[in-house]
Amino acid sequence: MSSRASWGSKLGFILAASGSAVGLGAIWKFPYVAGKNGGGVFLLVYLACVFTIGIAMLLAEMVIGRSAKKSATTAYRDLKGGAWPWAGRLSVLCVFIVLAFYSVVGGWTFSYLLRSITGEILTRDTAALGSLFNSFIASPTQALIYTGLFSIVTAAIVLGGIEKGIERASKILMPALFILMLILISRSLTLPGAIHGVMYFITPDFTKFSSEMVIEAMGLALFSLSVGGGMIIAYGSYIAPETKLVGATLWITVLATLASLLAGLMVLPAVFAFNVDPAAGPGLTFITMPALFAQMPAGQFFAIGFFLLLIFAALTSSVSILEPIVSFLMDEFGMQRKQATITTAIAAYGLSIPAALSFGPLANATLFGKNPFDLMDYVASNIMMPAGGLLAALFVGWIIWPRIHNELSAQGAGRILPVFRVLCAVVAPIVICVVWFHNL
Ligand code: ALA
Repeated sequence: MSSRASWGSKLGFILAASGSAVGLGAIWKFPYVAGKNGGGVFLLVYLACVFTIGIAMLLAEMVIGRSAKKSATTAYRDLKGGAWPWAGRLSVLCVFIVLAFYSVVGGWTFSYLLRSITGEILTRDTAALGSLFNSFIASPTQALIYTGLFSIVTAAIVLGGIEKGIERASKILMPALFILMLILISRSLTLPGAIHGVMYFITPDFTKFSSEMVIEAMGLALFSLSVGGGMIIAYGSYIAPETKLVGATLWITVLATLASLLAGLMVLPAVFAFNVDPAAGPGLTFITMPALFAQMPAGQFFAIGFFLLLIFAALTSSVSILEPIVSFLMDEFGMQRKQATITTAIAAYGLSIPAALSFGPLANATLFGKNPFDLMDYVASNIMMPAGGLLAALFVGWIIWPRIHNELSAQGAGRILPVFRVLCAVVAPIVICVVWFHNL
């Protein structure tokens, strides 16, 4: 146990966990899911989910990881045993599926970086950008190559070990990403017609309220906080005992939410200014941002910077998606990090293949009306992550509460503990069951 790696500093942990949270979820997924689901009303439900069950589950996963100093399955076994390790195995399966479709989108970002360097995407013509995006994602060769590239880079970082690989990169690149987004927002907001996008984003239109929208908002809230897949349990297992978990939770939640809000303010005003359909789907960021760069002085420089930082944001998340699977194999089966990482990366790439081909050869291979990519995203984000987060919340709220109470009280968190417990033990189960029930 004493040989378990740990974060270099409290700031290092917060940055790395925020790096896990801030990723494609905020910058690629949030704008298009908000765009598809009516803007303001989605934002409201999203924020409500983040600041109630999301934040509680984040803290719950962190305390489980820190208490047990093990990844999810082993942590549940060491802290309680019985059937609880299955909650950990479920989370491993969940992140395995997430890794598969995440790598596909990560691959898109690599391709768009290259296209920014060649200048190919720097046009104001959003129709041409739409066709370019659709033909790119439909090409099996390109999809498989870029997905593979993203998977290899993710595995290489995880092979570097916990401190060297993840923490160092997060310290520099997270702040750079936020600064760049602020610059891009200032351009997006000054486009003619941008105000309609802002209004769409911040004004709730309750006629757009639906149970499908609520499950997507809840799923995305947990996805963007990295909750429900054991990611924070794995990261939490490397936290030093003196790190104050409540403060860390607040920081991570605020940074993750801010990233989503900034991404919304960056993409949606431009969507309206360029007359793109806000419900255009997964291509929204990839179609709108290049048109925005084409309208900026030094647009190519900003395009390269944006896709470079988006790749890093995606990688600081993808390593956190891979890490719980690797630490599961190390903790449960005694594998070495290298063997566990390579095995997982190859297997996840195998599952990425149908996801990568979902917009081309497998576009018609649908189940419940969803292609393999959409199905993996839907099942992992809207069912498995809420289930994983719910089990973590129930575990903390009902099963190991006295221990958690003592640990957090010793850190001076006594006042918020009753609220935390109610959120974990009562609110989270009710909210999730109601949302699932309505969707059934
Ligand atoms: N939280 C990660 C993201 O949003 C998975 O990209």
